[in-house]
Amino acid sequence: MCSIIGYKGSDHASSVLIEGLKKMEYRGYDSVGIATIKSGKLLTRKGVGKVAEVNKSLRLDELPGKLGIGHTRWATHGGIVDHNAHPHLACNSTIAVVHNGIIENYDELKEELNRSGHKFKSETDSEVIAHLLEEYFEITRDIRLSMIFTCKRLVGSFAFVAVFNSSTLCGARYDEPLIVGVGNDDYFLSSDILGFLNHTDKAIFLDNRDIVVINDSDISFFNFDGDKISRKITQVAWELGDADKGKYSHYTLKEIHEQQQTIVKSLEQDKKNLENFCNVIAEAKNIFITGSGTSYHSALLAKQILSKSKIHVETIMSSEFQYSSDMLDENSVLLAISQSGETADVMESVKAAKDMGAKVLSIVNIPTSSLARLSDSYLEVNCGPEIGVAATKSFTSQIALLYYVADIIGRKSNGIIDSKEILTKSVSEVLELDSQIERVANQIKDSKDVYILGRSFHYPVSLEGALKIKELSYIHAEGMAAGELKHGPLALIDNNSIVIVIHPNDSTYSDTLSNIHTIKSRGAKIVGISNKRNDVYDYQIIIPTISEFLYPLIEVIPLQLLAYYLSICNNANPDYPRNLAKSVTVK
Ligand code: AGP
Ligand code: GLU
Repeated sequence: MCSIIGYKGSDHASSVLIEGLKKMEYRGYDSVGIATIKSGKLLTRKGVGKVAEVNKSLRLDELPGKLGIGHTRWATHGGIVDHNAHPHLACNSTIAVVHNGIIENYDELKEELNRSGHKFKSETDSEVIAHLLEEYFEITRDIRLSMIFTCKRLVGSFAFVAVFNSSTLCGARYDEPLIVGVGNDDYFLSSDILGFLNHTDKAIFLDNRDIVVINDSDISFFNFDGDKISRKITQVAWELGDADKGKYSHYTLKEIHEQQQTIVKSLEQDKKNLENFCNVIAEAKNIFITGSGTSYHSALLAKQILSKSKIHVETIMSSEFQYSSDMLDENSVLLAISQSGETADVMESVKAAKDMGAKVLSIVNIPTSSLARLSDSYLEVNCGPEIGVAATKSFTSQIALLYYVADIIGRKSNGIIDSKEILTKSVSEVLELDSQIERVANQIKDSKDVYILGRSFHYPVSLEGALKIKELSYIHAEGMAAGELKHGPLALIDNNSIVIVIHPNDSTYSDTLSNIHTIKSRGAKIVGISNKRNDVYDYQIIIPTISEFLYPLIEVIPLQLLAYYLSICNNANPDYPRNLAKSVTVK
């Protein structure tokens, strides 16, 4: 949930580390710290805040040395205070560690280490790694063995990077990502290729239970059993590193506007790969779709889309999957949807499905991700790096691609997306509503509760809109099937309520209109997202007319913009919502 980075080479390590951490800050961002080695001495600085702030006050990038490690934290164990920020040092200050994940047995390890005389300086689970390394190094005087013995003791999920003052950089991974960047005369260890892509496009993707040790003479790989292993170098695409805000004040706004290009780009697929992918679904006896958060909302839409081709699928939230995995067998297919391809809940689901003998397909944005590598086959949505913590362009790319998949499986001569030009034009018309939506946000910014209603295809979009409003603006928002309101939630509606209704003029129009009247007569203010004007709305957001199934692709955009502007009105930072992280690699 955080980012870790290590560097060993000929450059000033602390500047390289800070630059890498800034690129990966989307992963987690409550505290930051680095440690470097200079003339055999370990130096460290760390504090609470974002990379730029902490660097400004503590000048992390001035630490000398050509070897170092760095971390941005997303706290799981221990408060957000300076002494819990990583790196954590062993007692004799010759070893420092940064860790991503959770060490589940840290309590018992801490007790044992305390009994052997180790003194802990933080409340984190991570600190046990530094002391274990120290304990085993004192016994073996061998870094490789210390790494192996330490990894064997850890239960939970982890990627960690350690420096030893003897000028050695090491790393290990188990259920959290760790990638080696190979430069001309330097090495990087990083949670994401973005951490080193400014320096090299050569990467080695470590597998679970891999250990890497880099010293002055070589780089070597082992597994937790101590066997030497070899790992191949992959060339990654430079464009992935091409992430800046351009003319926009936030990544989130830039990414919302990029949808004009990204939605249709997701349809550019290798025909053969796509056909094979679709055949696996078409031939499966049982199909399950899973995902978390926004990607789960794509799964809900996929279910409805595929049902139009008479294909029945079950959707299961990834965090709930383990309780239902018994339903899968060797005749089943699990389709996992994930922007990052690193979400722990999704990865767990995929592993459970594989254990039951099912085939695993995935839809990802990052082809080098753990999920893509674990899948039998995957499709890439290709929307470019999504830095804003809130998923925006990845959602519309996922659903556009799912429409395409449904078309191929349904063998429709006239597909759902029959004109890319019309789609692009409609998306661009919706994006032009930007300043109008900013005004609506200003009108409703003081609301305490917002309800979003939609029927049929618009229901998953209502859930997605509510998620965006919650995470970006911190206003309580609930998405709901419009027909369900009268079965209970109507009791909450009064003249302080704001109800956003997704209401295009399609087969859901008149039933939803009746719901609007019911709400309106209880005093609520209505924000209507529709292609048809109606005086029943207090605020109208008029979207273009498009073929019925495609509305989700365009109606979600006003909701994304509304959430963005509500966050600005409420002085929140839309790119980095509090308590959240882009890549949720803990369960
Ligand atoms: C969406 O705005 C959220 N940040 C979050 O729900 C996200 O969609 C979820 O964590 C899943 O991420 P993934 O697509 O990378 O697996
Ligand atoms: N569990 C560790 C902590 O709370 C690491 C969390 C992270 O991945 O940032 O410090």
